[in-house]
Amino acid sequence: MTDHMNTRLTRRSFVASAAAATLLPVTARASVPTLTARPGQIRLLPDEYPETEVWGFDGQVPGPLIRLRQGQALTRKLVNQLPTPTSIHWHGLRLPNAMDGVPGMTQDAVQTGGDFTYSFTPPDAGTYWYHSHHQSTEQVARGLYGVLIVDETEPPDVDHDLTMVLDDWRLTQDGKTSEDFDRPHDWTHAGRLGNFIHAVSVPQVTTVRKNARLRLRLINVATDRIMEISLIGLEGKIVAFDGMPLLQPQTPERLFMGPAQRVDLVVDVTADEGEDALIASHERDGVFAIVEMPVSGSSTRRGNIPALPDNPHHRLTTVKDARKVPLKMEGGAMGGLREATFKGQRLSIQEMVQLGQAWAFNGVIGMPDEPLLRASTGETVMIEMVNDTAFAHAMHLHGQHFQEVLEDGSFGPLRDTLLMARAETRTIAFRADAPGKWLLHCHMLSHAAAGMRTWLHVT
Ligand code: C2O
Ligand code: CU
Repeated sequence: MTDHMNTRLTRRSFVASAAAATLLPVTARASVPTLTARPGQIRLLPDEYPETEVWGFDGQVPGPLIRLRQGQALTRKLVNQLPTPTSIHWHGLRLPNAMDGVPGMTQDAVQTGGDFTYSFTPPDAGTYWYHSHHQSTEQVARGLYGVLIVDETEPPDVDHDLTMVLDDWRLTQDGKTSEDFDRPHDWTHAGRLGNFIHAVSVPQVTTVRKNARLRLRLINVATDRIMEISLIGLEGKIVAFDGMPLLQPQTPERLFMGPAQRVDLVVDVTADEGEDALIASHERDGVFAIVEMPVSGSSTRRGNIPALPDNPHHRLTTVKDARKVPLKMEGGAMGGLREATFKGQRLSIQEMVQLGQAWAFNGVIGMPDEPLLRASTGETVMIEMVNDTAFAHAMHLHGQHFQEVLEDGSFGPLRDTLLMARAETRTIAFRADAPGKWLLHCHMLSHAAAGMRTWLHVT
């Protein structure tokens, strides 16, 4: 049996390479780099535990780091070796709609054994990430995500450029991914929260010198957890949110990061030699170091931290003539929602929960047939988001960043995901720049799966 298979495989690869040699001109041989979604194993827990089985791009978690220069094209062939369909969404990037990776809207899900080639040129520098956008509550929880960095033409002068991928795993006693991806209690409350907050530093940190300057790119890839992060023995500024530079860097205080959000900081090591500089996570039962950087040696302290070079992304100057559309966020436990429309039918809250649904936008659960709004390319629109629920939500717009319209009429930083506290009302605005169908959803992926999804149509 095995012999037979080996012969067949050998023969098959021989035929393929013979054909390539005769038919293809030399220049066409360079193959498209692949990302293979497949099962794998990683070491999450200390050695006395077994490794954790994951689903990852190339079997790794995080998946391979993708790093481009601004203006450089990205091409990756997604190959699916998972037992279920999948796709890749390039989170936070401006790209053609067909490359957005949303099954059922911009492409078909890639079936087991199938592939799909993504190709586009990101116009903006910054810290981004990519993740599965199919059954993402399960697939992102199992590890289907990776880091995507677009380097500025003139990056800031730092000694170390470190990306910290922050995840929240729900592990069983024996170190396995807990396979309870659809518990109604999670979906109707704060989502599927884990029991093990874990940071992966890319590249790995060895030691840092006192006064060394670091660029830290924090990415919250958790499906549902809001992280509260603080830096100890590190002092500096926030220079970007969600990949987009702040025109004026801010002093970090308490860093709350909703799922999918990124924060870029430039910081100097102030911890003394022999100590550790730390990234810490604030949790219910205390503050835990999730990254420890031992300090060894020292250098001279640098000066001012300048802003990053700005991106070509549009920034708002006025919303005077902009159309405003309301988005009422409803449902969940302890919410006032009594009934809502699901696939054209009116359902009571009990009926919704039986179907694994719990949340609504403007009285509709899940993707409505009609978009929340239609805009023409170049039109500026506002969405007034009213959080009429008892939970926080991380509202994410695909395809471009938006800005919050603040009380005094000024605009907040460019973001692609806005963390909203319970009972809050926040208005976002943006110039609809790219034609296509773009999702707007809660990035607490359990909430998205249980109804918090809508879309915009830009023509
Ligand atoms: Cu990062 Cu629709 O997602
Ligand atoms: Cu939510």
